[in-house]
Amino acid sequence: MSHRAGRHFLQIPGPSPVPDSVLRAISAQTIDHRGPKFERIGHAALEGMKSIFKTRQDVVIYPASGTGAWEAALVNVLQAGDRVLMYETGHFASLWKKMASKLGIRAEFIKGDWRGGADPEQIESYLRADKAHEIKAVCVVHNETSTGSVSPIAEVRRAIDAAGHPALLMVDTISGLASIDFRFDEWGVDVAISGSQKGLMLPPGLSFNAISAKALEISRTGGMPRSYWDWREMTEINKTGYFPYTPATNMLFGLIEALRLLHEEGLDNVFARHQRHGAATRAAVREWGLEVLCRQQGQESGVLTAVLMPEGHSADRFRATALQHYDISLGNGLSKVADRVFRIGHLGDFNDLTLAGTLTGVELGLRKAGVPHRKGGVEAALEELETPIFAEAAE
Ligand SMILES: Cc1ncc(COP(=O)(O)O)c(C=O)c1O
Repeated sequence: MSHRAGRHFLQIPGPSPVPDSVLRAISAQTIDHRGPKFERIGHAALEGMKSIFKTRQDVVIYPASGTGAWEAALVNVLQAGDRVLMYETGHFASLWKKMASKLGIRAEFIKGDWRGGADPEQIESYLRADKAHEIKAVCVVHNETSTGSVSPIAEVRRAIDAAGHPALLMVDTISGLASIDFRFDEWGVDVAISGSQKGLMLPPGLSFNAISAKALEISRTGGMPRSYWDWREMTEINKTGYFPYTPATNMLFGLIEALRLLHEEGLDNVFARHQRHGAATRAAVREWGLEVLCRQQGQESGVLTAVLMPEGHSADRFRATALQHYDISLGNGLSKVADRVFRIGHLGDFNDLTLAGTLTGVELGLRKAGVPHRKGGVEAALEELETPIFAEAAE
């Protein structure tokens, strides 16, 4: 394809666009990861991530995609044959369950319809029925990237406690962290999993576990045979600012810059910005006469919006048209909702004008692809941005 002028709109729900200063930080000459200069980098990255997870407990960083950190979470605290409770929020919850099963874990699903987050009441009754306390962990996806629904993690914790159950709470916040509120310590999470390519505004390649003292204690004598993912060696060596194997040095340069940007904006402002852009996107979708996949009020994601196509119209054909004519990448529908849904990413390094451009790209794409819709979605989104509660947050 010949050169296309102007910036490509990367509006999938991760990887998200990377700020220029983060790209510049990554492009610095690499350094000796065992040399004296690295110590400060290692400490800054690890401490910085604690501030994002909102924890004083341990955080580890892997040179791996989110899937690696999923596996690390499971193998450090669970054994083959253990029962775990998972909640079917969508495609990513299903993939995590598949991984657990491959590892010999007996993963049980509370069925979901992919149109909302996890239901704490159902989790509580499931745990109450487990009188022998065989279930070792409850695993929930915070922001389900395939559907645009958010699970109420603090309420899931309360449900576990109300059932008087000792199961660990493990949370995938791969696409939630640094875009929507997440409080590891306050919410009593035991293991959280995240990745670099979403709210942290980095390219793919880093992933994280935040680990409670309880989970770390279990991992000392429990878990499965493991080496690369082992928290024990990692957390010991991390205390010195170094890693047991070669870390992704340049990605850590980028991470430190991304953390600086997030704190300069202020995490609460970052969260409010995402909420605002989510609400404006939903206003556009409603005006187009299309349907938002998440139908649980209050659980709609500020990270992405999944949109149902009208019956008989292909989401993938529409996305291909939008890419070809307007140079915008939109997220595809995954597994159960393949070709039925497209996803608009509004996360990371993103502002009101990028939202306006994104929604304009969607509206033009709908028109070009002959998808039935009403005009005026972009206008509705702009009006939503001006509503007083959101206008204040933007100031
Ligand atoms: C919620 C969620 N979990 C897990 C993953 C898998 O992460 P990765 O593709 O980085 O391995 C993703 C990726 O998009 C995700 O959004």
